[in-house]
Amino acid sequence: MASQLSSFQTYQDSWASWYRYQLATLLMEDQHQLSSRPLRVLDAAGGNGMITEHLLKQGHSVVLFDISPDMIGDAKARLADAYGDRVKFYVGSLTDDFPRWEADFDLVIMHHIIEYLPDITAVFRKLAAQVKSNGSMSLITINPVSEVLRRIHFDKSPQKALEKLNELSYDARWFGNAQMYTDDELATALQTAGWDIEDRRGMRLFPDYVDDKLNNDEAYRQAMIELELNVAGSTPYRDMGRYRQWACRRK
Ligand SMILES: C[S@@+](CC[C@H](N)C(=O)[O-])C[C@H]1O[C@@H](n2cnc3c(N)ncnc32)[C@H](O)[C@@H]1O
Repeated sequence: MASQLSSFQTYQDSWASWYRYQLATLLMEDQHQLSSRPLRVLDAAGGNGMITEHLLKQGHSVVLFDISPDMIGDAKARLADAYGDRVKFYVGSLTDDFPRWEADFDLVIMHHIIEYLPDITAVFRKLAAQVKSNGSMSLITINPVSEVLRRIHFDKSPQKALEKLNELSYDARWFGNAQMYTDDELATALQTAGWDIEDRRGMRLFPDYVDDKLNNDEAYRQAMIELELNVAGSTPYRDMGRYRQWACRRK
């Protein structure tokens, strides 16, 4: 069986992944004004460092943190020499005690990870203690609404779509069983843990529903990105994306 890292790398060659990272970085730019000043960033559960790499290219300093030595090893091989002191790597779990970084970060990245954590409020609380006062967090997580839409689009099954209306667990393939959260659950967990929600966007609303071959055309991809950026922050679209991308600020 392929390792988690090699399965993830195969996924990272897909158009779905291309849109995911492109949109994540474009929306982060808008939500956190990344280009305006150098930041100290914690990329929590940052995997093999795709977002870390983007941030390093922009001139930020990043601690990449992940439970998987393979993921961290892959990131280190790509990034350590090129970025020297501006990047640090750390193998550890978000559910354990963190190293002594208290209140040191301007920004924490939490992309595609809360799905796999047992107690998100506890983790959000620990992260709030890691950012400076007025520090922020970029949160991306799967949107349960998209599961309902996908059952109709891919399976053509109203029965399966109906089942998904109240079903908040899903199979995340090589990452195992995962848990989705409603907007209300997520907002309560964040607020209880010391975070205000500043901005809510939806992402990857449309690319999942078109023929992948169309993406071979760069002009098509750019038009798709423009469409996504135009609807990401407005209702009802922001509530229908594959993912939610929320900007949070420490209270
Ligand atoms: C879906 S990947 C997302 C990686 C990265 N954030 C990205 O967007 O490319 C989930 C990552 O969470 C890591 N992970 C899972 N449980 C974790 C935990 N308890 N503490 C830290 N990392 C964890 C996995 O090793 C994996 O790299």
